[in-house]
Amino acid sequence: MTQDLDLSNFWMPFTANRQYKAAPRLLVSAKGMYYTSHDGRRILDGTGGLWCVNAGHCRDEIVAAIQQAAATLDFAPTFQMGHPLVFEAATKLAQITPAGMDRIFFTNSGSEAVDTALKIALAYHRARGEGQRNRFIGRERGYHGVGFGGISVGGIATNRKAFSGALLPAVDHLQHTHNLEHNAFSRGQPAWGAHLADELERLVTLHYASTIAAVIVEPMAGSTGVLIPPQGYLERLRAICDKHGLVLIFDEVISGFGRLGSAFAAQKFGVMPDIMTLAKAVNNASVPMGAVAVRRAIHDTVVDAGPANAIEFFHGYTYSGHALAAAAACATLDLYKREGTFERAAAMSPAFEDAAHSLKGTRHVIDVRNLGLVAGVELAPREGKPGTRAYEAFIKCYEKGVLVRVTGDILAISPPLIVDAAQIARIFGTVGEVLGTVE
Ligand SMILES: Cc1ncc(COP(=O)(O)O)c(C=O)c1O
Repeated sequence: MTQDLDLSNFWMPFTANRQYKAAPRLLVSAKGMYYTSHDGRRILDGTGGLWCVNAGHCRDEIVAAIQQAAATLDFAPTFQMGHPLVFEAATKLAQITPAGMDRIFFTNSGSEAVDTALKIALAYHRARGEGQRNRFIGRERGYHGVGFGGISVGGIATNRKAFSGALLPAVDHLQHTHNLEHNAFSRGQPAWGAHLADELERLVTLHYASTIAAVIVEPMAGSTGVLIPPQGYLERLRAICDKHGLVLIFDEVISGFGRLGSAFAAQKFGVMPDIMTLAKAVNNASVPMGAVAVRRAIHDTVVDAGPANAIEFFHGYTYSGHALAAAAACATLDLYKREGTFERAAAMSPAFEDAAHSLKGTRHVIDVRNLGLVAGVELAPREGKPGTRAYEAFIKCYEKGVLVRVTGDILAISPPLIVDAAQIARIFGTVGEVLGTVE
């Protein structure tokens, strides 16, 4: 199959294009926990696609909902118009977001959700008469997608480097919470590091609260290699934001929809943000969709600010709440509820944790960290060749029929939440076996 395929035109995202095209890996179909590769092998999905297929692949109910929507209403605008499915999707989503965070703005991706959330924070302060609050605080190693807003508040240096002259001007960053000296091989939330949140006080002193609009963090940082928040850290961030009137944004693009064993990380940690950014598993990744969940008070401040016949928020995408994406979201959210997907993730977490930590002592492994159904396995980097050891492990796992994710020298495991005990054992067993063969 690959010999007939021209690979040259597609400029692949976040990929070493030349390396990939020299030895392509194509996935041609998927069902449940498995992909099928172009060479006819079954690949166990240890990554839920890209941390997004929480209910497992090609679920019949979601497929049927998309098919029906496509045949009934291909597209209807949501600017000055509407269609029933988008309102229904917002209502279903608002039933699982934290209490009071029930106003939903739809986007097409996590990146768009982040930029939308940043704009909502600015619009909120302006509507309150504090338009000078236009600074954002992000965090080192944070990933908030690839829009200019997202890379500005994001803290992954490689994602910023080429664009550094064009980033948002008023942004500062907290330091990240990763610390192997204190927290290596923590099970669940590490004990050390709550005090790192106090740095927000320092930044407030430096910039003045009156210039800061919002703080954005991933409650569990996924893309940078699974950084679990230290015990008490998010609580402190919340308290400092309250003290100074800062909007707290949780980027739950990965941590949402049961990944940590609750609907959202906010409920898992018992810390409520003001705005949450969502995407990926909102509709099991079946049609591109993102969303921003906003506290009602923030929404009302913006929406009630002007006359009723004036547009309140000059922002939106042609495909905000696209009918197919909305249909898929309704079917997915129903499925999560009916099957108890989030509860199942919580129930499987102890077995997942044990399997992950069984890698302690395996060659090259310098840390294992986990929460819910996500784990990071950090490898010692090769001298002068960062990332190559984990990349080789990723390729070898794939050759053995298990898909994991690689970021730097960290392997990230985040299977669909329908994963069973035998599949968990196979994923971590394969990683362990492969590490025995990687130099
Ligand atoms: C926390 C977080 N925010 C934002 C994004 C960007 O989402 P998208 O790739 O859909 O734009 C991601 C993607 O992985 C993410 O993990």
